[in-house]
Amino acid sequence: MPSHVTLKLDHKELSLPTIVGTEGEKAFDIRSLRNDSGYIAYDEGFGNTGSCESAVTFVDGEAGILRYRGYPIEQLAEHSSFIETAYLIMNGELPTPAQRKRFSQLLTENAPIHSTTEHLYEGFPWDAPPMAILSAMLNSLGCYYPHLATNDHQRDLENFEETAAIIISKVRTIAAYSYRASRGLPYNYPRRDLPYCENFLHMMFSTPFEPYIALPEVAQALNLFLLLHADHEQNCSTSTVRTVASSGANLFASTAAGVCALWGPLHGGANMAVIEMLKSIHAEGDDGTKFVAAAKSGKADKRLMGFGHRVYKHYDPRAKIIKESFYNTLASLGIKDDPLLNIAMRLEAAALKDDYFLSRKLYPNVDFYSGLIMRAIGIPENMFTVMFAIGRMPGWIANWKEVASNPKGRIYRPRQIYVGPNKRDYVPPHQRGA
Ligand code: ACO
Repeated sequence: MPSHVTLKLDHKELSLPTIVGTEGEKAFDIRSLRNDSGYIAYDEGFGNTGSCESAVTFVDGEAGILRYRGYPIEQLAEHSSFIETAYLIMNGELPTPAQRKRFSQLLTENAPIHSTTEHLYEGFPWDAPPMAILSAMLNSLGCYYPHLATNDHQRDLENFEETAAIIISKVRTIAAYSYRASRGLPYNYPRRDLPYCENFLHMMFSTPFEPYIALPEVAQALNLFLLLHADHEQNCSTSTVRTVASSGANLFASTAAGVCALWGPLHGGANMAVIEMLKSIHAEGDDGTKFVAAAKSGKADKRLMGFGHRVYKHYDPRAKIIKESFYNTLASLGIKDDPLLNIAMRLEAAALKDDYFLSRKLYPNVDFYSGLIMRAIGIPENMFTVMFAIGRMPGWIANWKEVASNPKGRIYRPRQIYVGPNKRDYVPPHQRGA
């Protein structure tokens, strides 16, 4: 590979250095482009733009490869747990037994939320979207730890281990409490004796008169769901976290912003949109055929949700893993004949042999199945995206850490091509028409 590429602009030649990543990903460095030429690069949606160097996650969308810190997702899904993987993603290495124990202790100690936080839930309308609550609560969490949220990266990094554990642990308590608040149910305090996923399910579903005991298959399905969502390179929400972090903002504020970015239906909201799509197909008595035909119209509101991905132009490796686990979960719960599941399977089969989808390399993504898994284990639909946020937390935290630790880091500040009106003079109100 050449060490430089040459760009010819207005009879001028610019020599731009090339960069190659550890997996052979190639780029040329345009950081001096505007200074040297007056041009900027235009790349709406950033599909061709590397915004950073990162050592967290490697994705090869063409080959369907996903690795966290070098470890293939298939191996982590088979041998690891969400918490061990979270540690790996945030710290770069799998934990030793002593490190794992300390991390578990920190999570246990930090599971409860401050009792005054409970009153904050009362400030929301009872039907407030849980993603709005989650983002607001994460940001307010920082107010309870001013020494960990100083907006001075050096100081915030000194306490990184504790801050990361607080967020990873409390995010599930906050999420479960938002569900309980929305249903008018009493809060369930976290239990010290339960592992991460079982504890979350207890906080969601236990009642004062009956503890919720999670089936091992259900806890395992949740564990896998969270692990598969733990990081995914520079997606919309992670880029948002990095953008906010680049201004010097603390970890609480940066992850709260990640939640907002994840909310939309083209990103984290897709798992909820899949279920809504399946329900509406079912309500209309369609077996999926009409919907697939409409999805080929190219209209944004007719898209087959859970299909396609900005990066994967092959089967999403997470979708393969979750699909397999899905059938185990259904079997353990005794679910045999679910009409939405049947429609989903027909949609998938139809799309996988249709030239429209094949030629555009549109395959099921992880969300096609994850909504169905959440539904099977009793998570309400408006909590699906919250579940994704709990899973994605280690990735956001690791990316915040990279930004905060970079001594040469610069604030994220893209340019634009202005296409608005040229200079014009102010028009007084009486000259503006009716
Ligand atoms: N259904 C039907 N057509 C689609 C779909 C879909 N789900 N996705 C893309 N297309 C079509 C587009 O209309 C376009 O067609 P054209 O070439 O004829 O104009 C072509 O495929 C390329 O589409 P883009 O919008 O350029 O693809 P992009 O990479 O920008 O979008 C995205 C990726 C947003 C995920 C898109 O595929 C989509 O909207 N999918 C449904 C939502 C979804 O499942 N999101 C979850 C993403 S995964 C995650 O966040 C974990």
